[in-house]
Parts: sequence; C-alpha cells; structure tokens
Amino acid sequence: CGIVGYIGQDDTKEILLEGLQKLEYRGYDSAGIATLSEEDVRVFKVKGRIASLREEVDPNVKATLGIGHTRWATHGAPSKENAHPHQSTSGRFTIVHNGVIENYNDIRKEYLEGVELQSQTDTEIIVQLIELLHDKTNDTKEAFRQAIELLKGSYAVALIDQQDEDTIYVAKNKSPLLVGLGDDFNMVASDSMAALQVTDQFMELMDKEIVIVKRENVEIQKLDGTVVEREPFTAEIDSTDIEKGTYPHFMLKEIDEQPFVIRKIIQEYQDENDQIKLDPDVREAMKACDRIYIIAAGTSYHAGLLGKQFIEKMAQIPVEVHVASEFSYNMPLLSEKPLFVFISQSGETADSRSVLVQTKELGHPALTLTNVPGSTLSREADYTLHLHAGPEIAVASTKAYTAQMAVLAILAVDTAHAKGVDLDFDPMQELGIVANAMEALTDQKEELESLTRDYLSTTRNCFFIGRSIDHYVGVEGALKLKEISYIQAEGFAGGELKHGTIALIEDGTPVIALATQKNVSPSIRGNVQEVEARGANSLTISMKGIEEEDDEFVIPHVHELLTPLASVIPLQLIAYYAALHRDCDVDKPRNLAKSVTVE
Ligand code: G6P
Repeated sequence: CGIVGYIGQDDTKEILLEGLQKLEYRGYDSAGIATLSEEDVRVFKVKGRIASLREEVDPNVKATLGIGHTRWATHGAPSKENAHPHQSTSGRFTIVHNGVIENYNDIRKEYLEGVELQSQTDTEIIVQLIELLHDKTNDTKEAFRQAIELLKGSYAVALIDQQDEDTIYVAKNKSPLLVGLGDDFNMVASDSMAALQVTDQFMELMDKEIVIVKRENVEIQKLDGTVVEREPFTAEIDSTDIEKGTYPHFMLKEIDEQPFVIRKIIQEYQDENDQIKLDPDVREAMKACDRIYIIAAGTSYHAGLLGKQFIEKMAQIPVEVHVASEFSYNMPLLSEKPLFVFISQSGETADSRSVLVQTKELGHPALTLTNVPGSTLSREADYTLHLHAGPEIAVASTKAYTAQMAVLAILAVDTAHAKGVDLDFDPMQELGIVANAMEALTDQKEELESLTRDYLSTTRNCFFIGRSIDHYVGVEGALKLKEISYIQAEGFAGGELKHGTIALIEDGTPVIALATQKNVSPSIRGNVQEVEARGANSLTISMKGIEEEDDEFVIPHVHELLTPLASVIPLQLIAYYAALHRDCDVDKPRNLAKSVTVE
C-alpha cells in the first residue's frame, strides 16, 4: 500500500497516477486519487489496478493539487467504497491513510455517534474526526493536530481541505512517509520511488510531526507547535533502476541482476588492501555480544536462518533466528549481552519494527541489514549495513535475499577475524566465484523452463527437501513457488519426511531435492529413493563435484557454506516459470504486499 501527494504547477492527476504506478510493487488491491481545483474536489477510485484507475479518471480534470493511494485491505474488504481517498460527510475534507488505527472503535463511540459512515474503514474515522474538530476550532491545522493527538496505532496520512488550494497536511506514526522537494512544487510519498521521476531531494519525517506542505515550502512542526528544521537528503537511486527495460517482469530482471549485486557488495565491503571494510562500531558490537538474535520476516527470515550458520560456524557466536511477528509477544529468555540483528529488504516491516522498539526499550543494541538506508529500521537501529542490491520491485524477493546472505557472510568472517578465530576462508574470493556461478545459472533459463514444464505444469502441490543448509534453501524455494504460482509448496528437512509428510506423496507428486552438501548428500539421496518408491516425481539439484549421473540439474561448484546463494537461483527461476505458465501476475501476486507496514 502506498501514498502519494502533489502540490505544484503541473497536472496533478498525471503525476499521481505515475507515482501510484511506481508504488504498485508494494502490493495493493484497490486505488484512488482526489484532485482539488476551484473548491471542487474530485475523487476517483477503483477496486483493482492503476490501469483501471487511469480509465476511471476524468481526462478533463485540471488541478495542481491532489492525493492518491493504493490500498492493501486490512479493515474492510477490497472494494471501491473502501478504497481511498475517503471524505468527511460534508465533503470538505479528503484523506488517504496507510496503517491501522487501533482505537478507531473508541473514537467512533466517543466522538462520532451521530455520524453516518460511508465505508468500513478505520480511515474514514480520521477524516470524520477532523471535520468534527474543525467544526469546533474553525482551523484546519488545529483540527488535524488534535486528531493526530487522539490517534493510536500506525498511520501515514495526507489530508486536503476543499477550501484551501495551497496545502497538504501530513503526519505519520510508525508507517513510512517522505516529502519530496522541488523548486515550485512538493510531493509526499510512502517511498522515494513514487517521486523520483520529478526529484531526488527528500525530507524524512518523524513520528507524530505535523507537516504542512505548500507549493513553495514545507514546514514541520511538533505536536506542541514548535517548528523543526531538517536538512533534505539526496536519494541515491537512479530512476532508470526502477524501470523494467526489455524484461517482461521485474522478477526476471532482478534474478538476472544477482551476479552484479554480489560483485557490487564485494566492491563496497572491501578496502584498497583487499581487507574487509566495515563500520568499526559494528565490529565492536559483534565482538562484544554473547548471543545474536536475528529478527526478520518472510524471505529475510530465510536469509537469517543461513546467517545463523555463517555466524556460528565462522564467528563462533551463538545465534537465534526469530520470526518478528512471534518474537514481540513470545520473547525468549535473553542472554546477558544480546545483539539484535534486523534483516529487512525494505527496512519498513512493521512486525520487525515493533521488536526493535521493544528491544530498544530494554536497552539492547541493534544492527539493521537493509536495502533501503534511510528506512525506519535503519534510522532507528544503532548501526546499519547496506545490501547494495538496488531497488527491488517484484513482490517476491530474489536479489535482496542473496545480497542479505552475502553481507551476512562478510559480517561473519569479519567478526571471526576480530575475535582472532583462525579461518581459512576468503569471503571476497569465494563470493567472486559465487557471482560467476550465478551468471552461469541465469544463463540456463531454457533448461529450467523446460524442467518446470515437466514437473509443475499440472500439479497442485510440490515439496522441497534438503538437509543441513540445503533445508533452508528449500524453505525459500517453497516460499517463492507458493507466493507467485499459488502452487501449495512446502520445504522441510529430509530426515523429517518419514515423520509425517511422506503420507502426502502420491503418484506424480513433484519433490525437489537439494543435494549440495557433501556430508549429507547420501542421506538426501536416500530420501529421494523413499519418495520415488511412493510414486513421487523427483528433481534433484546437486553441485558439481558431488553430482551423480541421474541428477536433473547441477549447479557450478562454490564453497559449501555459500551454496545457498547459487542453489536458490534455479528455484527462483522454477517459481518464475511456474507462475508464468499459469498466467499469474508474477510481479504483483494476489494478496501480497512488498512492504508490510501493518502488524
Ligand atoms: C513481505 C514480502 C516478502 C518479504 C517480507 C519481509 O511479506 O512479500 O517478500 O520477504 O515482507 O520484508 P522485508 O522488507 O522486511 O525484508
């Protein structure tokens, strides 16, 4: 879900539609815009895609101020009525909102008894409340401020007042929102992508600030009215990075970018003497802790599972990996000197952020690994390591996952060096080999497409098995497949087969087995025999050096610890082709959002 707002000289509907299109990657199920000109607010909304919204918008609308929104349903089903913008009963105030207002029922009962609501959203409560407060104060800014004071939960909001063509009122709490700055215009946006076509200058907003955005200037105030001065920053993203170019899908482009990303990481994390270049404070924090708690969600959690292997095996520090959403209410007993490591492509995942808030309150240090340096998790943690993967647009994460593992491996080696652990492992050289292997793998698209046809064209389900670190890659392979092709997929440890899942194997059930680890290769091959004996259609992905004659796919040889960076590529491509063959929307799978800013 995303917000965009524009106030300037140009045709706002075009800028809003373009901005929303740039935010599509975040995932949404409905969209809308509102424009204001000559005291006339026009609202256009649709259930569905921006392309349909474009058809819905009256081409004759002329306005230089407006707000837009893509919605990912939380309160109320995806529908035109529930899509944003929402308006107050009189139509004077119009708002877009991301997030979840936790006390919306209380507000409704306490303040809005007689008000007839037009939607089932928590958002409408905000705009109705603002109208009510305006009736009392006759001052829009004051009504907005008072409303913000009353709200509990997460929000990013942009409000327009029909009787004021010179202002967008903006505020946020927990949810991301930025102001984009221009010479004679300003924008608001959930992330910089929505405004990069017109500016690379942005201003961060902090929680519970009131921001008054006009054509010529932007004023930030605290809730008590004190004015806050803030320097803008330059977004270091080239707007061409967020174009598909000749690729049919962002996902395919991002899969192909992985060798370059790994090489970029090598470059960024190496000094002129070929030593690891890392923030010395991160090094100290890693050295000083007695246990690491990795917190993440989705694909980033899967990278964390492998990060644990790297750190424990090389740096010899115990690591626990936790799903962020569980950790916040089920905190394990912590060690004496914990270090929290947050892994997040977007740096905005609300579940992870809520753990960060909790652990900061406990006084524990935090490091964020993210692809978006100015993001909330990056700003609020003590330290940040940048993934350098470039913007990832497809909802299903690919290059950020391999970048996360590469940075975790470098971090593990660096910590090992700092602790004086004797290691015979040159991470940059090994990652260089991985990058070459990745290139060879992305060149094998035809072969992988044909394997996908053979194994997955009609199936309803698919299993991934592996042992040791292959198990974790299998889990990620399964997630990719289910996310974009909707095939029910499960990844599990080969040894666990016999304890339950084998009951699901029928004639023709596809089982993808990973066999890249020498010590467990015989056992996983044993599992392949077991499922084959029960009718499964097995596909073994092994590695050069330990391959067997009948293996269906063999990846180039890389260091055993780093095999996930290579073995995941065929799994990403299999998921991609499975989705393509089923006519699924590869980049924007149903029900999913790229950056989940609600808990
Ligand atoms: C969403 C996305 C996943 C992603 C997860 C964590 O669910 O659909 O692809 O892995 O969030 O996102 P993060 O930005 O924190 O890595």
